[in-house]
Amino acid sequence: MDNNKPIGIFDSGIGGTSIWREIYHLLPDEKTIYLADSKNAPYGQKTKNEIIALCIKNTDFLLQMDCKLIVVACNTATTNAIKELRAKYKVPFIGIEPAIKPAALNSKTQKIGILATQGTLISELFNKTADKFQTTKILEQVGHGLVQLIEGGKINSPEMTELLNSYLQPMIQADIDYLVLGCSHYPYLIPQIKKILPDHIHIIDSGQAVARQTQNLLNNKVGVSSLKNNNPVFYTNTNPAVLKEILGTTYDVIQKDF
Ligand code: DGL
Repeated sequence: MDNNKPIGIFDSGIGGTSIWREIYHLLPDEKTIYLADSKNAPYGQKTKNEIIALCIKNTDFLLQMDCKLIVVACNTATTNAIKELRAKYKVPFIGIEPAIKPAALNSKTQKIGILATQGTLISELFNKTADKFQTTKILEQVGHGLVQLIEGGKINSPEMTELLNSYLQPMIQADIDYLVLGCSHYPYLIPQIKKILPDHIHIIDSGQAVARQTQNLLNNKVGVSSLKNNNPVFYTNTNPAVLKEILGTTYDVIQKDF
């Protein structure tokens, strides 16, 4: 089944490009439109209703571009708003949630750490999932300040190292063997995190799982692109410099107020 319309992807900012990368890698013929709502980042400290309103705004923008499917490339947005989005729109949505399940099932110490935003960790959806793994101790840590530093282009800064150290050392002491990255911005911190964690602690995120889910939905329901060489397009509502830097190549980045 052919469907040459684009896939729309949004996040509170540049972090969801880590999910876009996985989708683009697995589905290079699909046209993708990425929306970085950096003007309103971080979503992690906003109320559920504020997050829902921002998600509706982003979805409306992507639907104006005739997207066939929307990927909510943000754990905070997914855990707070995906139910409401699915109830409001006909277009199919794919969301991203922290990968607690594979971590809990594979953990030998039965202790796992999760780094995520406050909005994700207090959400009903996250807590429902976490409750399914009663025999695993889940050490939750809000990544206060991490998204702001990433959005500010300070991934490799002394402030970042200091924050990560303060969040991860207690988890190391508590004997975790899995660290779940529950925010789509955090995969960009993996090189820093690896410098802090001992080798036996595995780091996992949900990017590849989201890409596979996108592929399945296209194959089974929405339809795949019959075109080749689709250039991805990126929209941001702030200065595009940091987004361009994180993409690292010359993709089209358009600055627009939305
Ligand atoms: N990247 C988002 C997430 O996955 C949200 C970060 C934020 O805006 O607080 O949770």
